[in-house]
Amino acid sequence: MISLTNQQLINKAYEAMNNSYSPYSKFKVGAAVLTSDGQVYTGCNIENVSYGATICAERTAIFKAVSEGHTKIQKLAIVSMTRKYTYPCGMCRQVMSEFMDEEGIIILSDDEYGLKEYRFNEILPYCFSL
Ligand code: THU
Repeated sequence: MISLTNQQLINKAYEAMNNSYSPYSKFKVGAAVLTSDGQVYTGCNIENVSYGATICAERTAIFKAVSEGHTKIQKLAIVSMTRKYTYPCGMCRQVMSEFMDEEGIIILSDDEYGLKEYRFNEILPYCFSL
């Protein structure tokens, strides 16, 4: 079982960002998920010439975790090449709602202002569910 600080999870997200495949937007994003059972999965954005087939870094990381059998996410770190706070898009927030409970933590980083933490229900209140 891995125990990681928020800064270490951000560092993992930055490592993953180096693999960003983003020839169209030229905007690199990285993410790292800490599952409730202590595993880390990372992801980057992967673009496609058919733009709608692009996947965000957050969903890459989440889907890697889920496809390995880890469906409960404790924390998610997100970074981008701006090295400023980079907030997840709406589609990723909806995907997060599937695997993160209201107390799940989103960690963002800004080189100038440091780390910021949000609870999941702060960034997607009243989300859709069946
Ligand atoms: N992107 C992400 O990876 N995560 C987000 O939350 C927002 C956007 C990616 C998608 C696309 O490859 C690039 O950033 C520009 O939109």
